[in-house]
Amino acid sequence: MIHSEKELISAAVDVRNHAYAPYSNFKVGAAVETEDGDIYTGCNVESASYGLTVCAERVAIWKGISRGVTRFGRIAVVCDTEELTPPCGVCRQIIWEFCGDVPVILSNLHGKTETIQMSELLPRAFDSKFLK
Ligand code: THU
Repeated sequence: MIHSEKELISAAVDVRNHAYAPYSNFKVGAAVETEDGDIYTGCNVESASYGLTVCAERVAIWKGISRGVTRFGRIAVVCDTEELTPPCGVCRQIIWEFCGDVPVILSNLHGKTETIQMSELLPRAFDSKFLK
């Protein structure tokens, strides 16, 4: 672990400012670390055609993948909610695919944080092992 939870949260707070969420007004920031010590960040990007919306977590992972990263570590997710917001179901599947059973760090803008293991968020996950 090269980065502290605080650094990941801070990167997610910063990128959240770029969220394009005019329809939901629900801004999300995510930051995922790599084994090389890099951090990839993402915000949610919405569309007038609502179903095209992409979540912050996937934007962060897609950015890393497109730079050649194949495996990630912990991911931080930041929203402005009192009850900490966990990744949606689709993002849980994608985090499992590329990060595996990592700690997921949830935070709001007021310093409330909680860390949950991916296997708790997505028990009995479907993954590549079933395809062999
Ligand atoms: N959203 C995320 O970015 N990540 C999640 O895990 C939950 C939902 C975004 C999608 C949409 O832009 C807004 O939050 C409301 O659903």
